[in-house]
Amino acid sequence: MIPNMWYVIAESSEVKAGKPLALRRMSEDLVLWRDPEGKIVVMRDLCPHRQSKLSPGKIVNGNIQCHFHGFQFDRGGTCQLVPANGRNGPKPKIFQCWTYPAQEAFGFIWVWHGAPRDEYPPVEFFEGLDDHIYATFQKQWNVHYTRAIESLLDVSHLPFVHANTIGRGGKTLVNGPYTTLEDNKIRVWVSNQPDAGLPAIKPTQVPPPNRPSMLRFNFPNVWQLYLGEKLSQIAALAPIDEENTMIYIRSYQRFVTQPLLGRLFVNASNLYNRYVLSEDEAIVTTQQPKKSDLNVGNRFIPGDRPIALYLQHRRNLILAAQASEESAREIESQRQIGEAVVL
Ligand code: FES
Ligand SMILES: [Fe+2]
Repeated sequence: MIPNMWYVIAESSEVKAGKPLALRRMSEDLVLWRDPEGKIVVMRDLCPHRQSKLSPGKIVNGNIQCHFHGFQFDRGGTCQLVPANGRNGPKPKIFQCWTYPAQEAFGFIWVWHGAPRDEYPPVEFFEGLDDHIYATFQKQWNVHYTRAIESLLDVSHLPFVHANTIGRGGKTLVNGPYTTLEDNKIRVWVSNQPDAGLPAIKPTQVPPPNRPSMLRFNFPNVWQLYLGEKLSQIAALAPIDEENTMIYIRSYQRFVTQPLLGRLFVNASNLYNRYVLSEDEAIVTTQQPKKSDLNVGNRFIPGDRPIALYLQHRRNLILAAQASEESAREIESQRQIGEAVVL
């Protein structure tokens, strides 16, 4: 995973008040719960006392209570009660749960993957969706989230994998696609057409498009099919572990503003999305290895530019994070040497 970024790991509606939820994300067993104000808490699902899971416990006095010996932990993970020591007895600091910086925004739960900081950058989402009606479904895929993202940036698979759905019309020739990368955001304008015998126009030669519909991808794990101001689809690719991803698909619209009909519309569109996603799943889960990268054997054609750009930028971000961590360590060790000399 790319360090120092906010990742969508779940949908807000999954975490109900008063009920801890166990989820495996980012190769960790996590417990998600809400404090009395409804604020989200994300912890490692492990009691520091004798290592049982915390998720089967309950919320008591705004704390999560372990089901084994009743220890209670607040939203910061600090132990607030050891029942066997007595209400006013000691609550040693060693009983500290690991918590993750987490927040809720745009109906998703976001977790910071990286070292904690004093200040965090804001989460990046897509503008103009506040007045839309949406519905979400989720589907687990047996692939690393990089493969799922690749499939959402893949424009040449459409007439093959989706020949009877979104890829109807036999548009096998891929012009471009015109693709941009700026501020950790990829934008792709698809311009496929039936093959009339002319060579495909290269991504570097295709003119900038003048239509609004496009694919957008915000690093590290949120994608949008933007179909204008009134219609969009979102996919959030939540990493479960090295071989599994939870895909959240949302259909957004503001054509039909009457709430009940509007919801009917997005639910119906999700039935179709579910089917289209199953077409992808059947193929993408056969790719080897399950986790993609620049050096795993992918050979690219010009039409794969969005995928190549994604993998290249992902690698750059990982390397930059590693370099800054190393330089921070270097500065710290110089500081310590300096202090030693002064002493
Ligand atoms: S294992 Fe959690 S309180 Fe003992
Ligand atoms: Fe697809």
